[in-house]
Amino acid sequence: MAKRALVTGITGQDGAYLSQLLLEKGYEVHGLVRRSSTADVNTVRLKWLGIDRDVRLVDGNLTDLSGLIRSIREVKPDEVYNLAAQSFVKSSWQQPLLTGSVTGLGVGNILEAVRLEQPDARFYQASSSEMYGLIQEAEQSEETPFYPRSPYAVAKLYGHWLTVNYRESFGLHASSGILFNHESPLRGIEFVTRKVTDGVARIKLGLASELRLGNIDAKRDWGHARDYVIAMWLMLQQDQADDYVVATGRTTTVRDMCRIAFEHAGVEMDAHLVIDPELFRPAEVDVLLGNPAKAKAKLGWEATTSLEDMIREMVDADLKRLKIG
Ligand code: NAP
Ligand code: GDD
Repeated sequence: MAKRALVTGITGQDGAYLSQLLLEKGYEVHGLVRRSSTADVNTVRLKWLGIDRDVRLVDGNLTDLSGLIRSIREVKPDEVYNLAAQSFVKSSWQQPLLTGSVTGLGVGNILEAVRLEQPDARFYQASSSEMYGLIQEAEQSEETPFYPRSPYAVAKLYGHWLTVNYRESFGLHASSGILFNHESPLRGIEFVTRKVTDGVARIKLGLASELRLGNIDAKRDWGHARDYVIAMWLMLQQDQADDYVVATGRTTTVRDMCRIAFEHAGVEMDAHLVIDPELFRPAEVDVLLGNPAKAKAKLGWEATTSLEDMIREMVDADLKRLKIG
């Protein structure tokens, strides 16, 4: 019998790559999607990977407990991956309560649905390096104290601790992946890597003349989403549920990440990059640098894609998309 997985957030970047991985491993993949008037747009990432017809979509919303209970009852998953969230940090200051309701309390809803309907299912929670915020150690590991700096990070912290609590209280096989930033050609256009690769491609093709960014001194530990979904799956294959940092162990400024994109396209960065104070955040996470030693030792997981290769892949994908579009 094929294993069954339920993936919330299946229409997002990670949902698409995770579904592809699970299908390759022979899973039956079900994905929770929120109803939208533009349902055709929803599956664009699954289509990009050529798997939109191979997954089964189930209507539901992370804020609606009764719907989640029905979905879990219907699918009877062996594994549940909770990837759904309001995931854009900057928006979380504009919509703090919505972010809390989806990204925080939503985790409680899905954990409750699993506990009540399918308590033997294995559960993955998409936690975030944003929880480290105002970093308390130069390299962040599973032992580093958290100090969230945005409504998004506060909500993620609630989801993280609730996952730990359900594991300890009810014996659920619930694991939390503390994932550092990961990107790909399927990254949402609002996030900085994709904004840069799309912007550079537009300048290259004469469709734009400038790229406006905020704080380019911020540093992130960037990896490739394709690598990171493997770590999610590995966590649920362990006998014991646990929490893991997933990162590359290298940090780079937004400025240097940008330079890779401009150089790859053969476009002069200084002539086109504009700093816009409107794009600065009310509170910034200045630097993130993960220590993935535990994931390497216990899961045998390592990042395999360099930032350079990933950014070049993203620029090429954006050039292709814009030429076709
Ligand atoms: P993403 O592309 O923004 O995808 C978010 C997904 O959540 C989308 O499928 C979205 O559906 C869905 N969603 C939003 N609100 C929902 C709701 N109320 N009910 C049901 N579904 C809802 O995010 P991602 O980059 O794939 O990240 C996946 C998860 O990992 C997120 O929880 C994110 O916070 C977390 N994370 C990401 C990173 C990273 O660097 N990418 C790092 C650490 C943690 P629509 O398509 O309908 O909008
Ligand atoms: N988005 C964006 N747009 N960010 C900019 C810009 C800009 O124009 N200019 C500078 N930045 C800086 C931000 O201030 C931040 O310091 C950094 O670039 C990265 O921003 P994002 O790409 O939006 O990602 P994030 O680090 O805030 O959050 C992402 O990673 C988290 C894991 O650490 C998201 O994927 C979160 O969902 C995830 O949890």
